[in-house]
Amino acid sequence: MSDALDNFVQQLQEQIYEETKEAFGETAYQRWRNPLYMGTMESPDGYGRVKGGCGDTIDIFLKFEEDRVKEALFQTDGCGSSMVCGSFAAEMAVGKTSDELVEVTGESILEKLGGLPEENKHCAFLAAASLHEALDDYMVKQK
Ligand code: FES
Repeated sequence: MSDALDNFVQQLQEQIYEETKEAFGETAYQRWRNPLYMGTMESPDGYGRVKGGCGDTIDIFLKFEEDRVKEALFQTDGCGSSMVCGSFAAEMAVGKTSDELVEVTGESILEKLGGLPEENKHCAFLAAASLHEALDDYMVKQK
């Protein structure tokens, strides 16, 4: 690549980063750059997959130990904010008991990541719905 093209691409990338940081805020931006807890799991104790009205899907995988979430992972085919929300849903699930998991809601995810633009808020509710689906799956398997 020529230097001019290199510079152009770099400037464009920096502009995208700046715009994203401005729109989503520092916490969500940092998580977007470094989406922790992303991945899939072989034979999870609880698995949830919910498709939102926007057409995007978030998957949540949970491993429990003595009724407490030992490991949580997420995956999404959706936008950057669904990635951020899936990541926070997984993070907030770790260490919680099955009873406590219901406290992870769309609102609490939004609060944790410092809010999102109006048009992206549904991503947090989708992440919470997937987490609750994974909890349901775990509960059913316990019976
Ligand atoms: Fe639908 Fe992000 S736009 S989950």
